[in-house]
Amino acid sequence: MITRRRLMQDLGYLAAAGQLSSKVSLAGPPPQSSAPIQDDVVRLDANENPLGPPPSAIKAMVDSVPATARYHFDEFGKFKEAIARSESLRPEQVLLGVGSTEVIDAAVSAFASSKPLITATATYDILVELERSLGRRVVQVPLTETWGYPVRKLAEEAVKAGGGLIYLCNPNNPTSSLTSNSDIEWLVTNLPPHTVLLVDEAYIHFVQPTEIESAMKYVREDKNVIVTRTFSKIYGMAGARAGFGCAKPDLLHAMEPFLDNVIPVLGLRGAMAALGERDTLIPARRAEFVRISGELCHWLHKKNIRYIEPHANFVMIDIGRDVRPFGQEMLRRGVAVGRPFPPLTQMLRVTLGTDAEMARFREVFWQVYSG
Ligand SMILES: Cc1ncc(COP(=O)(O)O)c(C=O)c1O
Repeated sequence: MITRRRLMQDLGYLAAAGQLSSKVSLAGPPPQSSAPIQDDVVRLDANENPLGPPPSAIKAMVDSVPATARYHFDEFGKFKEAIARSESLRPEQVLLGVGSTEVIDAAVSAFASSKPLITATATYDILVELERSLGRRVVQVPLTETWGYPVRKLAEEAVKAGGGLIYLCNPNNPTSSLTSNSDIEWLVTNLPPHTVLLVDEAYIHFVQPTEIESAMKYVREDKNVIVTRTFSKIYGMAGARAGFGCAKPDLLHAMEPFLDNVIPVLGLRGAMAALGERDTLIPARRAEFVRISGELCHWLHKKNIRYIEPHANFVMIDIGRDVRPFGQEMLRRGVAVGRPFPPLTQMLRVTLGTDAEMARFREVFWQVYSG
């Protein structure tokens, strides 16, 4: 439901730039599928990974096409066990989802019904929209000056509300910034009663391990903490729709009734294969993205354009003007960039692409910026 709403917003954004077929009626009922952006557009808008699935995952998916004939419920146990092993957890501490979106939505449904969803702004707002669309309360406080989550304020709000679900995205989307280990430690130690902390680690593998520690250790310690992860980002498998959440079993049991799909067999087998390559794939891809983001930041610096120091596969650039027309103009010139993220309406979120895509981005960005 909420994905479609976001899709509609994004479609509206693209349509305004003349990239959609005239058959898509934005005033009519929601479309059943996304209308394509023109093929030659450089896609730097959705924090996908241009490296795509690793070869082992592609092979597993191709080889599995005949398996789509049958249900594959008997394969979920093995997948959970593999994830649990990779995170030093027990399988009963793992919940699979159709992308991490499904797990995040289930957490919102389970823990932010009579109590509010408490988070910062700007954040990954799909769950904020879900909570609002259900007519429930959202409490948002601004990010800190260094773009981290203000953990003490989040805890204060939870105390005021008598509990709730605190959502913390680390690294944060859309700012690509980090909340420090010590702040997260403080929040876990001082979590108010009836409060669950959801740490969304969709982008954690882009960060150098020396810079941030996963909150998974709090799951191992049986704290009131849920950690979500996805195969959509570093593994380059957004269309495979494979994600998971980890928490102590009683939290996961409360979320289970709100899951209503299963990862398709191709996604599941592809993700299993990718997970098998984790130890080599993650450091190699991280190094590649660090290089590409370093080059972009160096270029921005030379041009005297401010940006938030990035820690993921996207960079938030301060363009000093309304991002909507700017993005629309870039799209007209063949480069799709992130939508507006209120209240940061003068900042442009750019996903890192290949070297060729980034060269095209710099060219078009500079034309629009200086034009
Ligand atoms: C912070 C964050 N969390 C979760 C997701 C959802 O990813 P998926 O449902 O593909 O796992 C995204 C997608 O962009 C994201 O940016």
